[in-house]
Amino acid sequence: MFKLAVLSGKGGVGKTTITVNLAYAFRDLGKKVGIVDLDLTGPNVVRALNIDSLTVSIDAAEVKYIPIEHDGMKVISMASVIPEDQPLLLKGADSDSLTYTREAIIREFATRVNWGNIDILVMDCPPGTVDEVTSGLRYFKPDGAVVVTTPHSMAYVDYVRVVKMLKDYDIPILKTVVNMAYFDAECPHLTCKEKYHRYKIFYDKDIKYENAYELPIKQEIASTHRVDLKELATIILSGIKEVVKQ
Ligand SMILES: Nc1ncnc2c1ncn2[C@@H]1O[C@H](COP(=O)(O)OP(=O)(O)OP(=O)(O)O)[C@@H](O)[C@H]1O
Ligand SMILES: [Mg+2]
Repeated sequence: MFKLAVLSGKGGVGKTTITVNLAYAFRDLGKKVGIVDLDLTGPNVVRALNIDSLTVSIDAAEVKYIPIEHDGMKVISMASVIPEDQPLLLKGADSDSLTYTREAIIREFATRVNWGNIDILVMDCPPGTVDEVTSGLRYFKPDGAVVVTTPHSMAYVDYVRVVKMLKDYDIPILKTVVNMAYFDAECPHLTCKEKYHRYKIFYDKDIKYENAYELPIKQEIASTHRVDLKELATIILSGIKEVVKQ
């Protein structure tokens, strides 16, 4: 099983959207896929997948969680363990009560889920370098990462921090997804050959990303959370092949 972490420095840049759509793309390319939602306080994967029944069950004999099966993929999320109207009573490492620590839950997800026979586990992380992320890196030991950012100079600082953390953990970055990087608009000039023009947005001229893959800002993505990522998934699959070879 190849464990692929999807991370970002800043929040709201599109990690969950990219996790879920990459998962569908991998599935459509013939892979058996699992998704683990490491965002314990904002577990949005279930919502982005349109799952409404919360049906994680327990394999009592093995003492393991059995993931939800959805659209041919396996999913584990805090939202599939605790009903949506219940508060998530989580503590940091310094817990002195009956509430769970974030680290303990990530460890459960890493060690007690019966994934069965899957090829790729896509890990949706919360933003930054918080407990869930560092625990996720330690317990899951991802084999590769996709870093998501938007082309704002303010997001860049946080992007650099995450890149440094991944280097420290020796986790290869298979792609930087620069999300909401441009929009396509109909050409206003009668002389243009192409009907649509690509307009870059937010870009600060000094910003340089390594190994970048740009995605447009699109109304359909915002409203449906869906975007066809087969091209990106194919690029990542060849990156995975390289990593596995080494
Ligand atoms: N390329 C895009 N075009 C338009 N809307 C987008 C695009 N990418 C993401 N969005 C929208 O932006 C919002 C934030 O996306 P998402 O929840 O995937 O970000 P996130 O990085 O997972 O956030 P968080 O840090 O809170 O986990 C969502 O409503 C999503 O539909
Ligand atoms: Mg998210």
